[in-house]
Amino acid sequence: MSKPLKIAIAGLGTVGVGVIKILESHREMIAARAGRPVEIIAVSASNRSRARGIDISAYDWVDNVLDFTTRDDVDIIVELIGGSDGIAHALARQALDRGKSFVTANKALIAHHGNELAECAGKQQLALRFEAAVAGGIPIIKSLGEGLAANRLNKVYGILNGTTNYMLTQMEATGRDYGEILEETKLLGYLEADPSLDLDGIDAAHKLTILSTVAFGVKANFDDVYTEGIRRIKLVDIEYAKELGYRIKLLGIASLAKAGLEQRVHPCLVPNSAPIAHVDDGFNAIVVDGDFIDRTFYEGRGAGEGPTASAVVADIIDIARGHHGPAFFVPARAMQEVALISMSDRVGPYYIRLHVEEQPGVIADITAALRDQDVSLHVMLQKGSEQDGSVYVVMVTHDTREQKLMNAMNQINALSSVIDKALAIRIENL
Ligand code: HSE
Repeated sequence: MSKPLKIAIAGLGTVGVGVIKILESHREMIAARAGRPVEIIAVSASNRSRARGIDISAYDWVDNVLDFTTRDDVDIIVELIGGSDGIAHALARQALDRGKSFVTANKALIAHHGNELAECAGKQQLALRFEAAVAGGIPIIKSLGEGLAANRLNKVYGILNGTTNYMLTQMEATGRDYGEILEETKLLGYLEADPSLDLDGIDAAHKLTILSTVAFGVKANFDDVYTEGIRRIKLVDIEYAKELGYRIKLLGIASLAKAGLEQRVHPCLVPNSAPIAHVDDGFNAIVVDGDFIDRTFYEGRGAGEGPTASAVVADIIDIARGHHGPAFFVPARAMQEVALISMSDRVGPYYIRLHVEEQPGVIADITAALRDQDVSLHVMLQKGSEQDGSVYVVMVTHDTREQKLMNAMNQINALSSVIDKALAIRIENL
């Protein structure tokens, strides 16, 4: 058998521990599949003595992860620290500059610095791999870059954040509102250290940036993703959506057409008939449309020790097999810069939720604002009233240009009868 592939692991949190467990427990199977043994040489983390449930005494301990980059006995550095900048970015740059291949689960790092790192890796003919950065256990990067390589891909979308999917599912299942479910989710430890990454759609936007880059071969930029989270979704929205035949999901949607690249993350009403409407709890799902395959659908666990570590180890095995191709499957210099489609140009139907005072003329004022912007109504629902005399009114529009809808929403929000700022949720008839 060929000489071992030697790795160093930076970060021994949940995923790092999972990687060690897989490499130890499947040592022989992995060596057979990779064509050579994979050996852990050194490890590093912020706290050496923390209880991790595994024995790391067989591996060299390194206090400063940057020291991995100067060691001759390390072929690959596996970064499981996280964060788009700081030490993770410095480690990536130094590793690639000093001839080490680099494997990471760090979505923020790749979303912000993927183009630059891919260029470094390409120049040195090193591998830069990040399967674990998107949708954990679903091998979506490989599927896009290899399995579907014969297709022109035109649309990639999905549930890319398990935490918010869990929260929306729990709201519907338990009939409890956002605040209560948020507290429970915090206690379960499902939220990122910075909860805004989950709740404001930033985590999903990191993953969507990576998917766009791989799917379309474009220089995607995280700052170009329109991003909106789930903080304004109330139980009443989930209940009205259900009555209208929809479920609410936080989706990341990317598409490339002649007009340009569209990238957006926001809550959507998706029809009950769409398979993605039934992906619940912490699961992720991704749908890919291509010119020869029509449509493919992938579902699986997007986070957690096992699924994420499985993706990291798959990348390591790939490198052990000698696969050092371009990080985004086309050489960095061949990646295109494309025009962006503005969110205000989206055309589609909208769900609008209004919380208003119950008094004569309120609906007339609201519909006048919609009429003034050429927004045509398809459905209107109003049921009973709240104890305080207010009422929820829900409307569904016909296809509307987003700019017109937003103009109407601004007019509506200026009305004195509006209690809470009106909420519009895009309907995606997938
Ligand atoms: N916070 C992420 C999620 C973790 O909920 O999907 C996995 O990237």
